[in-house]
Amino acid sequence: METIRGRMSLDLDLTDFYARLANYNRLMLDLGTGDGKFALCHAESFPSHFVIGVDSCRENLREHSRASLPNLLYIIASAQNLPHELHGRVSHITINFPWGSLLESLLMNDPSLMRGLESVLSPKASLDVRLNGGALSEQGWTLEDGSERIRESLAAAGWRISKPVTMDSRALRTFPSAWAKRLAFGRDPRAIHISGYL
Ligand SMILES: C[S@@+](CC[C@H](N)C(=O)[O-])C[C@H]1O[C@@H](n2cnc3c(N)ncnc32)[C@H](O)[C@@H]1O
Repeated sequence: METIRGRMSLDLDLTDFYARLANYNRLMLDLGTGDGKFALCHAESFPSHFVIGVDSCRENLREHSRASLPNLLYIIASAQNLPHELHGRVSHITINFPWGSLLESLLMNDPSLMRGLESVLSPKASLDVRLNGGALSEQGWTLEDGSERIRESLAAAGWRISKPVTMDSRALRTFPSAWAKRLAFGRDPRAIHISGYL
């Protein structure tokens, strides 16, 4: 699979990948990681977790992917075509403020995303999805209806979903991701947090 560090990309094979994971009991995947700040903060805060940020766009990852932490890796991949090396390894997945094809796949219950997620997850995995009003309205949904639609898709895929929680501008301001900060000070500072577990 293709990993990225600054301007350099490196192909990591299964043996090297498993060697890096060897001392960690939890693997967290941040899907649609953007500039990777959330993944970096999580890796710094939880040194016993291995954190992987995944995004299809390499440009935004240049800065944070330079960080040299033993428990952090950034992968260039599409959420609908996750690397087979991740198979059965992921214990926690986050999808923060998705847009574009990632959001569309969640809304449409796209099998390539849902089956791909199913294949990378370990038993009893957990999930956090944070959705924002602006991205959903670009796809023709209100925040409430779009979130409900995604909640239903996730439930149909076997996730036990908790009651969605609203995030206001204050919650967005303190959330450690670049996009959360942008939203907090933007025109529509509202998001919904959906969490679940298998
Ligand atoms: C609004 S940004 C959010 C970034 C980050 N999660 C944050 O909170 O700052 C959405 C990200 O999803 C990524 N994305 C969209 N579709 C994707 C896909 N199909 N596979 C992987 N990443 C995708 C985009 O490249 C973008 O970086």
